[in-house]
Amino acid sequence: MSRLAVLVPGGSGQLGQDLKAVGAERDVAVRATSSAELDVTKVGAVLEGVTELVETARAEDRTPVVINAAAYTAVDAAEDDEQRAFAVNADGPRVLAAMCSSRRVPLIHVSTDYVFAGDATAPYEPDDPLGPRSAYGRTKAAARTPSSAPAPTPGSSAPPGSTVPAARTS
Ligand SMILES: NC(=O)c1ccc[n+]([C@@H]2O[C@H](COP(=O)([O-])OP(=O)(O)OC[C@H]3O[C@@H](n4cnc5c(N)ncnc54)[C@H](OP(=O)(O)O)[C@@H]3O)[C@@H](O)[C@H]2O)c1
Repeated sequence: MSRLAVLVPGGSGQLGQDLKAVGAERDVAVRATSSAELDVTKVGAVLEGVTELVETARAEDRTPVVINAAAYTAVDAAEDDEQRAFAVNADGPRVLAAMCSSRRVPLIHVSTDYVFAGDATAPYEPDDPLGPRSAYGRTKAAARTPSSAPAPTPGSSAPPGSTVPAARTS
């Protein structure tokens, strides 16, 4: 199997740090970025990060992959800041998906059990109906459903550093 080069937005968090540690043990080149280095809500920053990943992978004969570990995970704070949580948890993955798709890079995104209602009597399966009961859950669930807004494209008018269209509450 080809060696991997992995970009991990949200790389300063719990999952990101674990991915970095696992990568170091397995000859996986992991670039784990903080939000200051790569803000997933900024089209230009994401495009730049994915483009750099592709170039690095090509130079090192590796297969490029993005694993999204970026998230607004402050569950209680999200109740009062759902717009910001939505921007990171729902718009961010859409920006990543659009830029990865444009560069033909596989994207792995991580969801959460908060997208479910939590009253099931059996363990949840990934495709079970969604039923979030919190702002955090709503924003994470929104990342799993298609947006009616046009997907951002590398050729869109959004200049580097600009944010995605106004965040919505659900
Ligand atoms: N930990 C769990 O038990 C658990 C369980 C189920 C699912 N998950 C899912 O796993 C994923 C990672 O969770 P985690 O536990 O690692 O969370 P975490 O420790 O809170 O890390 C999330 C990271 O996202 C970054 N971030 C926030 N806003 C960002 C933005 N606009 N652009 C780029 N990065 C941004 C933060 O980076 P900075 O600090 O640099 O701002 C933070 O380090 C999430 O999708 C979460 O829903 C986690």
